[in-house]
Amino acid sequence: MLAYASPLRNQQGAVVVMHDVTEIRRLERVRRDFVANVSHELRTPVSIIRANAETLLDGAIEKPEVARRFLDAQLRSADRLAALVADLLEISRIEAGTYEISPDEIELEPIVAHTIDEVERLAQEKHIEITSDVPEDMTVWADEQALEQVLLNLIDNAVKYTPTGGKIVVRAKKRDDMVRIEVEDNGPGIEARHRARVFERFYRVDKGRSREVGGTGLGLAIVKHLAEAMEGQVGVEPAEPQGSLFWLTLPAASD
Ligand SMILES: Nc1ncnc2c1ncn2[C@@H]1O[C@H](COP(=O)(O)OP(=O)(O)OP(=O)(O)O)[C@@H](O)[C@H]1O
Ligand SMILES: [Mg+2]
Repeated sequence: MLAYASPLRNQQGAVVVMHDVTEIRRLERVRRDFVANVSHELRTPVSIIRANAETLLDGAIEKPEVARRFLDAQLRSADRLAALVADLLEISRIEAGTYEISPDEIELEPIVAHTIDEVERLAQEKHIEITSDVPEDMTVWADEQALEQVLLNLIDNAVKYTPTGGKIVVRAKKRDDMVRIEVEDNGPGIEARHRARVFERFYRVDKGRSREVGGTGLGLAIVKHLAEAMEGQVGVEPAEPQGSLFWLTLPAASD
């Protein structure tokens, strides 16, 4: 609480004006955390690139079999940096309002099929089966590129976090004037205490394990922003008997 007091001029007493600064303080903290998180995320791959370059210069470059390994690690770190920078730019564009959302009537089924194709290779490697249960004539009112990005993030997560041999279903149903799209997996699921927070920037449930699969924790923050920009909502529920069910609602395209 911030208070200003001034004495009344011709009478006894004073005027006190009080401001509730809870929200301002919260936003300051969010900004500080954000900067700290970004720095941390950038530091790890940069130090890997640096350490490996040093080792190569110190002589490892003369031994091709060893050199390859160091270069390979550098390449992977560079890829991670590139992905992180791309996500950060995306978030800042969305937040600055310069991400142009131009909604249109869109057929859902082809977009879902196309997005599944994009993760198919990774899914096959892990023997994960992805099925789509989206009615052919279903349309939504959405920005095609944004919708594709939302679906890709949700399906990519499902593939990344579901163990070998898992199953993923993408389905869509109409409810009144909204369409509800669901991405359900039978992976480890997300504990209740983490569920509300996974849409925050940089929030990862299991930092050790998520790092292994290469995430930075920005995917779902982007999903939430884009969904809201399209007048939709996102959420996550436990799946039965096991797994996660991410849902997304979008306005149905009407005449
Ligand atoms: N289908 C899922 N099953 C289990 N956990 C999940 C699932 N989807 C997301 N999570 C958890 O939520 C966290 C946040 O997801 P998010 O997509 O924002 O980040 P990420 O996948 O770690 O990184 P990025 O998407 O930026 O590459 C993940 O790190 C993971 O712990
Ligand atoms: Mg992700």
